[in-house]
Amino acid sequence: MTGLPAIEAAIWQQLARACHDRHHAWRTPALATVDAEGLPEARTVVLREVDAAQRRLWIYSDARAAKVAHLARQPQAVLLAWSPRLHWQLRLRLRVMLHTGGLALASRWARVKLSPSVGDYLSARAPGAPLDDGPTAPPAEERAHFAALEAEVLQIDWLELHRDGHRRARFDRHAACWLQP
Ligand SMILES: Cc1cc2nc3c(=O)[nH]c(=O)nc-3n(C[C@H](O)[C@H](O)[C@H](O)COP(=O)(O)O)c2cc1C
Repeated sequence: MTGLPAIEAAIWQQLARACHDRHHAWRTPALATVDAEGLPEARTVVLREVDAAQRRLWIYSDARAAKVAHLARQPQAVLLAWSPRLHWQLRLRLRVMLHTGGLALASRWARVKLSPSVGDYLSARAPGAPLDDGPTAPPAEERAHFAALEAEVLQIDWLELHRDGHRRARFDRHAACWLQP
């Protein structure tokens, strides 16, 4: 694969694969946000859906999580993934829209509600809340604290490590170029 359009198509193909394949390294990228003080923060998330045509990704979260507060203030974020199998690093610049209600959220919640991960969104305690008694099983709530993050990919920075020479490229919405790795 040599041309930029082919590489960009392959990146989206791998992203789409990653959200269905538990063993794909890109299934669990790191999402970096900026907090209210302007300090960076990063955490692992699961890639839930990929829409290559719309250049959009979906991630789920507890609505009370710090990342959701960060994104409400500063919707720009970065998603970072490395695949040792592909030897590809991906750094995606995102603009994130938060869904805490509405149809897009309801349809996704209808699916999550029936899945084993439903408990992740039913805790009476917010993520990051101090636990005086240690990690005991928290009481479940009737009300779900489910949020969906719809991320528009603004820019892709792709790096391939190869013994014959590394390659790096940047893909914007309407342009692509090679970069010195
Ligand atoms: C493999 C793995 C997958 C995770 N997936 C998610 C996820 O999809 N959504 C999420 O909100 N947190 C996920 N987490 C937990 C986050 O990494 C993080 O600890 C939690 O969301 C709190 O982050 P925050 O306080 O920065 O919002 C995952 C953690 C691991 C280790």
